Amino acid sequence: MCNNKTAQDTCVLVTGGAGFIGSHTVVELLQDGYEVVVVDDLSNSSEKVFDRIDTIVGDDAAERLTFVRADVADKDAMEAVFDTFDIDAVIHFAGFKAVGESVQKPIEYYSNNIGNTLALVDVMRAHDCKSLIFSSSATVYGDPDSLPLTEDSPKKPATNPYGWTKWMIEEILRSITVADPAWNVVLLRYFNPIGAHASGLMGEDPKGIPNNLLPYVAQVAVGRRDAVHVFGNDYDTPDGTGVRDYIHVVDLARGHVAALAWMRDKAGCEVFNLGTGRGTSVLQIIKAFSAACGRDLPYVIEPRRAGDVTANYADCTKARELLGWEAEFGIEEMCRDSWNWQSHNPYGYEG
Ligand code: NAD
Ligand code: WQD
Repeated sequence: MCNNKTAQDTCVLVTGGAGFIGSHTVVELLQDGYEVVVVDDLSNSSEKVFDRIDTIVGDDAAERLTFVRADVADKDAMEAVFDTFDIDAVIHFAGFKAVGESVQKPIEYYSNNIGNTLALVDVMRAHDCKSLIFSSSATVYGDPDSLPLTEDSPKKPATNPYGWTKWMIEEILRSITVADPAWNVVLLRYFNPIGAHASGLMGEDPKGIPNNLLPYVAQVAVGRRDAVHVFGNDYDTPDGTGVRDYIHVVDLARGHVAALAWMRDKAGCEVFNLGTGRGTSVLQIIKAFSAACGRDLPYVIEPRRAGDVTANYADCTKARELLGWEAEFGIEEMCRDSWNWQSHNPYGYEG
């Protein structure tokens, strides 16, 4: 990316920009003055999100947003995008993300996640666009030897195909920066993104039964499900339930904007953890969400879920020092905004 450009003359391609994290990032980019092109095939999202984005950012900023419905692996479509727009950098969210489903559908996961990334970098190279931010995950740390996790903590073998796709895409992108020093790659390892836009207009909208804790809790709160199933209360944690570093999706979105500004005059491959640095247990989440929605949410204790780690949370010193980014919101705001979204959109965008 040319280092004398400002947000106002920078065009960012956001793959998967209709999804949960992508849509919140698009809002932050537009509000910062960027021109944004979203490529999404809507395989796990709704086109209705774009009306919500327009409402949040207003007409002027919305004019800087273009949506192209396409699969990132569709080279002709992607060539057309790069021919039409002068793309300076890419934020690559597009991919499948359900851990359990990846065990059942490894071919689809390896193909969509790794295949689409390879197709993307190939088209980027052909158009001499070599700045890329990739959505990686704390899943690459596996079961940690010690906490908090720094970017230097070892990567551990993944326990499912989804985890392997993140693990391998990181290595693929690193290899590309080694082979061609003109590439500029930032790997962002997200911890557990939750929450929603404070407007209540955008949030997480999983299809089917939610796999992740927060959307499940939110659906119990809104009456779509009977009780939260707590997967294990015999872990070596203060209350026996699993501990995670939950991060507000708006903080996470802003982390991408900070990384984009930082990488302007950089090259190579850099990794950043994006979390809050604080661990919260499942029972603490249920308590915080109960406070947010105004009633005690029912829960039942179940056996541990296969593949779950006891605890993980991030050391985010590197992001603070280099990107000047730090998470602003705590669990209370995450649950408040998640409830605001869920209570106003009980069936998500289509409801
Ligand atoms: P999401 O499913 O809401 O968003 C992904 C978007 O990509 C969807 O809109 C989907 O329609 C689109 N998509 C999928 N395959 C595509 C393809 N081949 N071409 C075009 N569009 C395609 O997921 P999210 O929670 O917003 O996650 C975004 C990224 O962050 C993913 O790569 C995910 O693996 C990663 N991530 C998510 C979490 C999390 O807990 N949500 C944690 C760590 C990393
Ligand atoms: C959190 C805690 C569960 C559901 C996953 C992926 C990870 C990343 C984020 C993409 C754990 C417990 C959960 C439920 C529960 N995604 N739980 N009842 O497993 O930390 O991370 O999403 O990259 O790769 O693995 O998130 O929300 O599923 O679970 O008790 O119904 O909640 O056991 O302790 P996880 P999660």
